[in-house]
Amino acid sequence: MPKEMSRRAFLKLGGMGAMTVFLSGCGLTALSGTKSAPEPPAKGSVSGGKAMNIVVINSSPHPKNESTSIYLADRFSAGARSAGHTVFTFDAANEETHPCRGCDECGMDGPCIFKDAIETKLMPRMIEADMLVLVTPLYYYGMSAQLKTVVDRFYSRTSRLRGKKSALLATAYNSADWTMAALEAHYDTLVRYMGWADAGRVLAVGCGVRSLVERSGFGDAAQTIGASL
Ligand SMILES: Cc1cc2nc3c(=O)[nH]c(=O)nc-3n(C[C@H](O)[C@H](O)[C@H](O)COP(=O)(O)O)c2cc1C
Repeated sequence: MPKEMSRRAFLKLGGMGAMTVFLSGCGLTALSGTKSAPEPPAKGSVSGGKAMNIVVINSSPHPKNESTSIYLADRFSAGARSAGHTVFTFDAANEETHPCRGCDECGMDGPCIFKDAIETKLMPRMIEADMLVLVTPLYYYGMSAQLKTVVDRFYSRTSRLRGKKSALLATAYNSADWTMAALEAHYDTLVRYMGWADAGRVLAVGCGVRSLVERSGFGDAAQTIGASL
């Protein structure tokens, strides 16, 4: 199916009317196509003035310069670096990763039987990190399989990943008010279970292609969260 046709299918099924976009958690509604002027969406400083180690987990298979969600991640990272934080980015879509097999060899306290990029490159960084940022395109109203693969592998170090700060950056084509509901509910449940402190979220609806997210106010919102940590 041609690219635009498949996107139209989502558009139709998602009940999208006018290109209204929605900044969830930010108390902000704006029209896409014009650059909105968002109020600061961040929850304020969660770092207590300390320079933090932040791990950003990208999961889009699109090239970096075409991806809508990686655009948000890059804007967030620029903000965080400007505030003195260190950012490590993991590319879950292009690294070698394996889904959890549920073998329980780790006993929820590692090591994992897989010696892939999650275990060797990402896990040590996550254990040391102060903050984890989950970045995803919306796939069938949830997170991408690429990101879920990483999240399920939290299992091998569950207790060592507790108590961190977190954020969610997501993009979607549709803009109905329920577009991000399931993803947001999952994220909130994860935050609760892991005992994380949510530092903010950008739920960029109506942003199915790069030009739309670039023209929206969601990039500014992501950068503001990063700069306000
Ligand atoms: C497999 C797949 C599933 C998708 N599912 C949804 C969906 O459920 N709702 C939606 O609004 N957009 C959906 N989309 C559109 C993407 O979320 C959207 O194009 C997003 O901006 C892509 O982000 P990226 O460029 O960072 O990968 C889907 C796209 C793909 C490829």
